[in-house]
Amino acid sequence: MFALRAGAVVAASMVTALAAQAGEVEVLHWWTSGGEAKAAKALQATLQAKGHSWKDFAVAGGGGDSAMTVLKSRVVSGNAPAAAQIKGPSLQEWAQEGVLADMSDVAATNQWDKLLPPVVGNIMKYKGKYVAVPVNVHRVNWLWANPEAFKKAGAKVPTNWDEFFAAAEKLKAAGIIPVAHGGQNWQDFTTFESVALGVGGTEFYKKALVQLDQATLKSETMTKVLTTFKRVKSYTDKNAPGRDWNLATAMVIRGEAGMQLMGDWAKGEFISAGKKPGVDFICTAAPGTAKAFTFNIDSFALFKLKNEANVKAQKDLAAAIMSPEFQEVFNLNKGSIPVRLGQDMSKFDDCAKQSSKDFVDTAKTNTLVPSIAHGMAVSSAAEGAIKDAVSNFWNSDKMTVAQAMDKIAAAARTK
Ligand code: GAL
Repeated sequence: MFALRAGAVVAASMVTALAAQAGEVEVLHWWTSGGEAKAAKALQATLQAKGHSWKDFAVAGGGGDSAMTVLKSRVVSGNAPAAAQIKGPSLQEWAQEGVLADMSDVAATNQWDKLLPPVVGNIMKYKGKYVAVPVNVHRVNWLWANPEAFKKAGAKVPTNWDEFFAAAEKLKAAGIIPVAHGGQNWQDFTTFESVALGVGGTEFYKKALVQLDQATLKSETMTKVLTTFKRVKSYTDKNAPGRDWNLATAMVIRGEAGMQLMGDWAKGEFISAGKKPGVDFICTAAPGTAKAFTFNIDSFALFKLKNEANVKAQKDLAAAIMSPEFQEVFNLNKGSIPVRLGQDMSKFDDCAKQSSKDFVDTAKTNTLVPSIAHGMAVSSAAEGAIKDAVSNFWNSDKMTVAQAMDKIAAAARTK
């Protein structure tokens, strides 16, 4: 009897202790499409399994521009969320403001330095201390294709830009929209970066879009890139302006369009629609980029918080994000690959396995490059200015290639 009562007391005090430690984590993200939302749910479930509560702060808008605007106003008013989806050099910009929390203890306990490739770990650190935690590695230089549409058109899935335009002609002749595109500036920019990589190669890409070298931005190669980029537009449909990226993916899923140039979050849409890679859809490197990899690493910056229980919850979230269980379930839904080294890939499909192999191989051959369109390559100010110039060119009927080149080079000087 006594033992039973004592047991009950212990159990009750454990519940109290758990409740006392339970905190709330408010998480800002822009994962609202089908595949993205499933991945975000996995994050929520992981946190809740630790006894904490999740406050969803989703701001719709592919690429995250709207989310970043909202985040700025929240932080300025002294009301930062616990975690926010922030990537690449922007992490340094936020850390410089002094608003990010030091996660060194979580990182040390969980051996992040050993589990992350140094190229990734360095992005997450400010002055040697972790201020963010990565969730995945997205590859941006993909081409998605509908095999039925290609069969109907008698077209071959392209491996270079000549083949791309040959396939586009055939798709068009068969009454299929060749290229599914969403006319939003970040999507125009995503297409541009794949064209730049495919036409110019990795050395050109690095000089032009990472180092922002003026001479390279005004070179012969840049002329070719811009000409090819604009030619892609002629194979998009008239309803493209303003279209969300996932609606463009849906056009490929339905076979209404033949191909889409988009990062592998698009795969999350195919998967969430019950489609099988290699059967219902094809993933292949964007034309001319098979030996290169534009990486886009999603990460969460952790903001300084006052409430102790919430700090504990925030640290639990950071630790959970790097766990193999979370990395698996999240990335299976998101279309990306785990960022953690040595992760078991047996449950992943061939697109992910290819991506995983290429991520490792391209790191060795120096053809692993940061995505400029997804905030990995340059400061947010330069990125925004170049993105606008590229998108203006895409949308203008009057701007010449030479004028576009000048505008882009001028935008690249933005500090
Ligand atoms: C990217 C982000 C991806 C995906 C995509 C579309 O910038 O890294 O995770 O969400 O935007 O929204």
